[in-house]
Amino acid sequence: MKRIAFLLVVVALVVGVAVCEEPPSKAAEGKADPVFGIKIPAGYRDWKLISVAHEAGNLNDLRAVLGNDVAIKAYRDRKRQFPDGAIIARLAWIYTISDENNKVFGRDQSFVAGAPTNVQFMVKDSKRYAATGGWGFAQFKDGQPADAAVGRTCFACHEPVEDRDFVFTHYAP
Ligand code: HEC
Repeated sequence: MKRIAFLLVVVALVVGVAVCEEPPSKAAEGKADPVFGIKIPAGYRDWKLISVAHEAGNLNDLRAVLGNDVAIKAYRDRKRQFPDGAIIARLAWIYTISDENNKVFGRDQSFVAGAPTNVQFMVKDSKRYAATGGWGFAQFKDGQPADAAVGRTCFACHEPVEDRDFVFTHYAP
């Protein structure tokens, strides 16, 4: 009997610790952006990959587009419209020469992700963001939201792809 009681205490302790270690809010982190009120979605760095791209010119970056589960499902089901709750993240890093890799290849051919530039999000909420095609837009650098002036440029530039629900990136198979 004593042994069972002891085991019960151990189990209770383990469960208690597990519950206490759960973070208070898993929904979002940090300050909200000033235009759409979007915070950095928790765990976005672990979302699934939609595609990658390289922008030259002033941006000079390498970028990855990730989606939360709702967005990924919509892509895989080939839905034209993303349902509410879908979030798409665009991460970007400076396009950097890799001397380390070039040495191994024996010639200059290797470019990799350097320091992060900024991260952008599109959040689908057809009621809240009805005025901008159902999407809220936000950009963050080092965890800080961009100025309102930046947030107001997003939708106009995404409008040309209205027929794809304002999303440029195609799902890379
Ligand atoms: C000058 C036009 C332009 C502006 C301004 C712009 N975007 Fe985009 N955005 C694009 C293009 C083109 C792509 C796809 C190519 C790429 O990722 O480089 C894209 C891709 C994205 C993606 C990945 C999903 C998709 O549509 O492919 C997100 C998320 C995103 N932008 C968010 C934003 C946010 C947030 C802002 C404002 C802070 C913004 N964009 C401003 C043109 C723009």
